[in-house]
Amino acid sequence: MTKRVAILISGGGSNMVALAQSMCGDHPARPVLVLSNDPLAAGLAKARALNIPTCAIDHKPYGKDRAGFEAALQQTLETAQPDIICLAGFMRILTPEFTAKWEGRMLNIHPSLLPKYKGLHTHTRALEAGDTAHGCTVHEVTAALDDGPILGQARMKVRADDTPDTLAARLLPLEHALYPAVLRRFAAGDRTPVMLDR
Ligand code: GAR
Repeated sequence: MTKRVAILISGGGSNMVALAQSMCGDHPARPVLVLSNDPLAAGLAKARALNIPTCAIDHKPYGKDRAGFEAALQQTLETAQPDIICLAGFMRILTPEFTAKWEGRMLNIHPSLLPKYKGLHTHTRALEAGDTAHGCTVHEVTAALDDGPILGQARMKVRADDTPDTLAARLLPLEHALYPAVLRRFAAGDRTPVMLDR
């Protein structure tokens, strides 16, 4: 049976577009919802242009009330009934209570070769460490941040003149190749990691 996919974003949504466009033909999944915690996220308009239902749940009015924000998130997701949730540049930390509800069904893309550089500023940290390789990881979301089982990685060489911006720009197309490849496998019930080396 076709799997229902909800995609959570906070910004431009380029990974969301790559995922959504991949879900056609004999793909085992289809997008059913794009949800943003930022009502102004540019990705929302891109999702509407792709005829995907959208929803914004602004986290700001909730202040420090993470449970309240996540209850709203949960209610919307329960209505959309996704089989799989893809975090795609979703920049809110989720509580263990929330991740437990979706464990085994929620994926995230992170711009580093995990377990290196969990959290923010991954490109700067890779350069500061003198890494010769950098990349991105798709993993299952568990209670600990950027820590769940790895479902795929794309790796590229770091150049001598790279800056955080050039690394980010070269990595994004790799993210767009990796995440759809992982989602297709995952939706078919296969958790074998996808490894891309560019
Ligand atoms: C991507 O580079 C993604 O890996 C990163 O945010 C960007 C979103 O871009 N995610 C994280 O940093 C999560 N911790 P997009 O909105 O164009 O897909």
